[in-house]
Amino acid sequence: MTQQTWDEVGGELLPHDEFRAASEAIVANIERVIEGKTATVRLALAVLLAEGHLLIEDVPGVGKTKLAKALARSIDCTVRRIQFTPDLLPSDVTGVSVYNQETHDFEFRTGAVFANLVVGDEINRASPKTQSALLECMEERQVTVDGVTYQLQTPFMVIATQNPIEMEGTYPLPEAQRDRFTARIAMGYPDPGAELAMLDGHGAADPLRELRPVSDADTVRRLIATVREVHVADAVKQYAVDLVTATREAPDLRLGASPRATLQLLRTARAVAALEGRDYVLPDDLQALAVPVLAHRIIPTADAQLARRTTDAIVSELVHRLPLPHDRQRSPYDTRPAAEGHGRGPYEPRKG
Ligand SMILES: Nc1ncnc2c1ncn2[C@@H]1O[C@H](COP(=O)(O)OP(=O)(O)OP(=O)(O)O)[C@@H](O)[C@H]1O
Ligand SMILES: [Mg+2]
Repeated sequence: MTQQTWDEVGGELLPHDEFRAASEAIVANIERVIEGKTATVRLALAVLLAEGHLLIEDVPGVGKTKLAKALARSIDCTVRRIQFTPDLLPSDVTGVSVYNQETHDFEFRTGAVFANLVVGDEINRASPKTQSALLECMEERQVTVDGVTYQLQTPFMVIATQNPIEMEGTYPLPEAQRDRFTARIAMGYPDPGAELAMLDGHGAADPLRELRPVSDADTVRRLIATVREVHVADAVKQYAVDLVTATREAPDLRLGASPRATLQLLRTARAVAALEGRDYVLPDDLQALAVPVLAHRIIPTADAQLARRTTDAIVSELVHRLPLPHDRQRSPYDTRPAAEGHGRGPYEPRKG
């Protein structure tokens, strides 16, 4: 129930150049309004293509809402935005049965999650009850109201934003709920050049208003279907498991990453590989994704917290220490070239 079956997405696979053209068009479109954040923009798209949900966490005014809106606007699909406030009710998110006087029957009025892209702005301002209503939909991809289950649309992605600073009137997401997000990204300040470009491009009018869709839900379904076919070598799968196991054994961590994290790590790696034009995942993809996919799910020990060690730093260190799969397989005395077997690298699918 938590996972859709392969045919449910219903998209036909895209050939290599069409995949590239469609995905690059979305990235380029978002970059018309978000200056100097290519890696962040690509990661946001990767999460969509990995059928995941994205948490954008950063200080005020760095373009979180703008990135969420730009991605939503780049794809011609249903978008709904929820501004989270303390008085928002769970039924505002999921929907509610109302009595229709004319038909003398109850009818279901859909809540904000009934869309392809749901932008949940300032999610930590909603009450825990409302937060959990949203987070349940994220996992189940369906809503049950008064005993009736309604399926959500495909693609379905929640992009939530929040500030890390603990301010009055915020309810930080509990770990169990953070685990539902495939990745957490920080925007970070633009570098001075990008900030200057922002002043030129965005000074007078808001370029977001002129942003037009460059893709649609059907294309996104096909992009997703293509990502699902990206090859993952056994050694790379093993590496993902080793990476996650390392978080569970790290002395600095009180809570390591969940099996859900392992699944989502691999899915996002497939999307990143496809965006890079590859039909197979490299261990480097997992290394690059370890912090955004794992760091928000784990909890440091009290000692590590006292030493002000961030989970980002702890995960980066684990990645550094863990040997790459291919290095592990090979004897240090092996002088043959690394790529073997049909002239392809060790992580590529064997063809022919
Ligand atoms: N990298 C960037 N490129 C282009 N514009 C940017 C960038 N960073 C910030 N801005 C601009 O800064 C303004 C604030 O952005 P936005 O509202 O998205 O911030 P936010 O992170 O959602 O803030 P808050 O936490 O207060 O909601 C917008 O006008 C946006 O265009
Ligand atoms: Mg905002």
